[in-house]
Amino acid sequence: MKRDKKPAIGIFGAGWVGLVSGACLAELGHDVVVRDVVPERIEALRAGRLPLHEPGLGELLERNRERLTFTTELDDLVSTPIMFVCVGTPPTHSGDADLSAVWTVVDQLPVLEERGILVMKSTVPVGTGEKVRAALDARGLAHVGYASNPEFLSEGSAVKDFMNPDRIVVGAFTEADAGSVASLYEPLDAPLVRVDVASAEMIKLAANAFLMTRISFINEIANVCEATGADVEQVAQGVGLDHRLGPHFLRAGIGWGGSCFPKDGAALKQLASNSGYHFQLLSAVIEVNDLQKRRVVGKLEKHLGKLSGKSVALLGLAFKPNTDDLREAPSLVLASRLLAEGAEVRAWDPVADASHLLQGVTFCESVLEAVTGADAAVIVTEWEELKTLASAEVLGAMRHPLIVDGRNLLEPAQARSAGFAYEGIGRAASPLAALPETEEREPQLEV
Ligand code: UGA
Repeated sequence: MKRDKKPAIGIFGAGWVGLVSGACLAELGHDVVVRDVVPERIEALRAGRLPLHEPGLGELLERNRERLTFTTELDDLVSTPIMFVCVGTPPTHSGDADLSAVWTVVDQLPVLEERGILVMKSTVPVGTGEKVRAALDARGLAHVGYASNPEFLSEGSAVKDFMNPDRIVVGAFTEADAGSVASLYEPLDAPLVRVDVASAEMIKLAANAFLMTRISFINEIANVCEATGADVEQVAQGVGLDHRLGPHFLRAGIGWGGSCFPKDGAALKQLASNSGYHFQLLSAVIEVNDLQKRRVVGKLEKHLGKLSGKSVALLGLAFKPNTDDLREAPSLVLASRLLAEGAEVRAWDPVADASHLLQGVTFCESVLEAVTGADAAVIVTEWEELKTLASAEVLGAMRHPLIVDGRNLLEPAQARSAGFAYEGIGRAASPLAALPETEEREPQLEV
């Protein structure tokens, strides 16, 4: 390491959580060393290159260069008084969280002379803290403290979320450890939720599950709106103004994806099941989301008949805007379903590159290229660029003027007056798009 000054904070894992947390803790004035096992990643970071897309993160790393060090060496970290664990906990085949990276950190900790605190930021099953505590004790590391300090960062706004948190949750086995962790966040104006370790672990899982529940709930309301003639956007506004309910996470669409909700939903469901409890509501929430992605196919078939030989433009591939993250993105399910139906799929995304994940899809450089000759354009991710999709230029380029708006991004009236047949989610259906005379429409039932 270049510096003489000893960093106060060590971070295991230079992934998305580790980098955002490291950069933000440095911004709060702490000296931070971030360690990763992938040398190329560390090399890139040392050279000032970001290995992922997150607004504001590059600037933050640059601004705090003096306070940030990147390393592959374990030794550079273990003398830091506070060590954050920010490693991945992906799902296993059973839906349980894979904690192997967490255990590698715990197992690799040398017998420290000085007192340190291991702080878990990775999302882990309830009970992990107890197990880590027991493992540390068994390894002669009883003097190393343990705390759970879950992250509530959303991709695309993670820096803002870190610097303006709704709350800081700290679960610890001792008051002293809780105080040390909480003090790191002192410059931030946020309530401190000081709880036991298991509750801190559950707060993270429950918060994500609740957010998923809200989305699946509004998506089911949207589906009933379609069947009954109500408009889910108006409904969500009217519901969300109730102060007991609030307006957030009531955007109907083609469902959630990402690196967190699918994994954390499965992990909580599995955790409950392993503990002998069938979490019925969460199971339904997950199933509703799985089906929601596929409803787009039904909407396309309603307008176009059989999709074999039809050309469909998928606009937006990332699981949400302002990220290049494709993990569990609804676009992947949709593209695969459309290919299975024999459709030609033309995809566009301003950032995400899905060419290694999807075989048989034509990837396009621009929205216009993707919609050229298409029978339908599907808005999969609500990128800013797509707000002007219902234009004369796009109308002229498409073979059939059909827009299926999977994120309710457009104004239906404006899209229709621009000459498009428009289908949103939970909004009044459009008259069917005109097909060329040579083609017959075979009416299909929606899923
Ligand atoms: C989510 C949580 O929002 C964070 O608080 C949490 O820290 C993070 O998971 C995590 O566990 O690390 P993230 O997955 O980045 O963050 O993204 P969200 O903004 O929550 O969106 C997730 C998905 O839900 C996206 O596919 C989005 O399109 C969808 N969504 C969101 C809706 O369909 N409707 C909504 O109203 C909101």
